[in-house]
Amino acid sequence: MRLTVIFENHAGYRKGLLGYHGFSALVEHNGRKVLVDSGTDGSVLLRNMDSLGVSPGEIDAIFLTHGHYDHTGGLKAFLQERENGIDVYAHPGIFQRRVALKQKLREIGIPFTREELESLGARFHLSPKHVEFLPGFLSSGEIERKHWDRTVGYLTKNGEYVKDPVRDDVALIVDLGREVAVITGCGHSGILNIAEQAIMLTGKPIGALIGGFHLRGAKRELLDDAIGGLKSLKVGRLYAGHCTGIDEYAYLKARLQNTGVLHVGLSLEL
Ligand SMILES: [Fe+2]
Ligand SMILES: [Fe+2]
Repeated sequence: MRLTVIFENHAGYRKGLLGYHGFSALVEHNGRKVLVDSGTDGSVLLRNMDSLGVSPGEIDAIFLTHGHYDHTGGLKAFLQERENGIDVYAHPGIFQRRVALKQKLREIGIPFTREELESLGARFHLSPKHVEFLPGFLSSGEIERKHWDRTVGYLTKNGEYVKDPVRDDVALIVDLGREVAVITGCGHSGILNIAEQAIMLTGKPIGALIGGFHLRGAKRELLDDAIGGLKSLKVGRLYAGHCTGIDEYAYLKARLQNTGVLHVGLSLEL
């Protein structure tokens, strides 16, 4: 498997790449290319793809980790750039209206309607269940929350705001044979829940856990619990970025061996 980071908060070490709040990665495995999430902004997504030598037309499928704008905002421009339609795998909850209330009310869900994206060629396959959608590419399905989770924002129900449990937060599990790689978008379900579900579903150890872990602002006790949990689950390598938080990343790196940071242009071979 090869993973290339296309969209991330930080761009590192190579000319022509743009950093922007959000996440997207290309996962190549078993001869297939899956785009995980689409970042916040279509022009940044397409610019980085171009700089990295990836064309929208060569992608076989899209996997969406959840319905926040910073993981879906690039979809429209991506679809417009392709000639053919494309299968999109996600949880049915991705199209809910979701808002943040801090500072001021703002929309944080997908900035497009389902119909709009379908008219541009998106073929949605939405399920809360785990499914192997391409050989070796498995959606975790809805994640059981046994430990803490890291939710954010509100849903609107009957004119009221209710806390959003981000039930649509799913992870991509890539079967590498003896072990699996797990890719999260924001990790709203909690990284320990995500890691346990991947192990439970596949019966295989996690060679690498990659993505945003949504630990920004987390208390030290929670970070220590995450570190202890990841150690006891024997997660091989950790690649953290996006909403992990810089201080929180440094805290993890000082205590967990084999921890790396994500940035646009990073390529991992597993
Ligand atoms: Fe995010
Ligand atoms: Fe998110």
